[in-house]
Amino acid sequence: MAEERQSIHGQWSSRMAFILAATGSAVGLGNIWKFPYITGEHGGGAFVLVYLLCIFLIGIPVMMAEILLGRRGRQSPINTMRSLAKEEKLPAIWKYLGWMGVLAGFLILSYYSVIAGWALAYVFRTGSGLFTGATSDGAQTIFAELIADPERLLAWHTLFVVMTMIIVARGVKSGLEKAVRYLMPLLIGILVMLVGYAMSEGAFQEGLHFLFDPDFSKLDETAILTAMGHSFFTLSLGMGAIMVYGSYLPKNTSITKTSIIVALADTAVALMAGMAIFPIVFANGMEPGAGPGLIFQTLPIAFGQMPGGVFFGTLFFVLLVFAAWTSAISLIEPAVAWLVENHGQTRIYASVIAGFVTWFVGLATVFSFNIWSDVKYWDMTPFDLLDYLTSNIMLPLGGLLIAVFTGWLMSRQSVQDELAMRYKGLFNFWYGVLIRVVAPFGVIVVFLNAIGVLD
Ligand code: TRP
Repeated sequence: MAEERQSIHGQWSSRMAFILAATGSAVGLGNIWKFPYITGEHGGGAFVLVYLLCIFLIGIPVMMAEILLGRRGRQSPINTMRSLAKEEKLPAIWKYLGWMGVLAGFLILSYYSVIAGWALAYVFRTGSGLFTGATSDGAQTIFAELIADPERLLAWHTLFVVMTMIIVARGVKSGLEKAVRYLMPLLIGILVMLVGYAMSEGAFQEGLHFLFDPDFSKLDETAILTAMGHSFFTLSLGMGAIMVYGSYLPKNTSITKTSIIVALADTAVALMAGMAIFPIVFANGMEPGAGPGLIFQTLPIAFGQMPGGVFFGTLFFVLLVFAAWTSAISLIEPAVAWLVENHGQTRIYASVIAGFVTWFVGLATVFSFNIWSDVKYWDMTPFDLLDYLTSNIMLPLGGLLIAVFTGWLMSRQSVQDELAMRYKGLFNFWYGVLIRVVAPFGVIVVFLNAIGVLD
């Protein structure tokens, strides 16, 4: 076995610290903003079913592989892939897997921070009592006014990028742990409350029926690809975020258990968000396929009508910003770790550079909702295109390559040593079935299906 490396960026203080950081990365806008709106666009139940299958059959196994590679390489994903390829006598080209991840991270963060900016704006809109007594029309108008104004979107986007870079500059390990430990349970608490509201005031049955009753006639190739892409997105997989977090993981922690915990927490949050939102959608005669504005048009109605809504609503959006924040830092950490390793930059300098690039690319998303709303490529706005390219192509491709590298190219001995699973049978199942066959071929089949090869 190769000599054990140490990360120059330090280690998590405990297994719990890693679980919290990885959960912080996984749970974010993907769960609360994106999952409900893409579920709405793709017809509900059948989409949710495919998403769940992808989480369990592809997501969890790939998460284990990605953490394992990170912990073995102990560097930024680019250098980790380079060292592991060398160690396993594989071509150096594997470092480009790390590069693709860095690129995907920039592209995702560029639009992620614009949406997080909406959440920031909503902290103040809810806090000022703007939504008190709001109807669905009122909530829709307030949202439409926000996104029609490029200057305001730009200001909130800029603020969110700056917030993210401050934490990244200080190092993702300090402070994050405590914040996630207390704020994540609070976020879940508010979601439970919202589900409670939906049960009493919303069309709860109809909402559940939409989410959990699969209607396969609504499941086209794009829906399947989107569901798979989202399973990578929501678990932060396929671009090196979890790999770089894994590189700070102490040697003796169980990768299997931690992966399962993180994935279950992430899935629970997404399903709760869906159960809170769709009953409100149906009770107010709204469109489930309303698109990216869905949560901003539905939840304010609930907050506008429940007792204490100003308080709970404000708290909710604060926590949503926070959840987005702990996700955003993981999107940029691979690039920053690389700048520090290879260019001897300080974290501060590296963060400023990375932040500037993100901010600049983010302009495309800011303008997608107003002055560029007619700019379409393949029928998609720049924002849609960025999302499609990253979630539906780059992340699954990254996941596929991670599965191939771990399952087919690394020596079985290295994989087994690093994973150190207690139960042999479980390892054989993960290795022989999931990571070698189900995950890579699953991704390939969904890709081929989406481009119409399998018709
Ligand atoms: N998983 C986060 C969310 O659901 C977003 C995110 C953070 C992410 N890091 C990532 C997505 C890395 C893909 C890859 O909001």
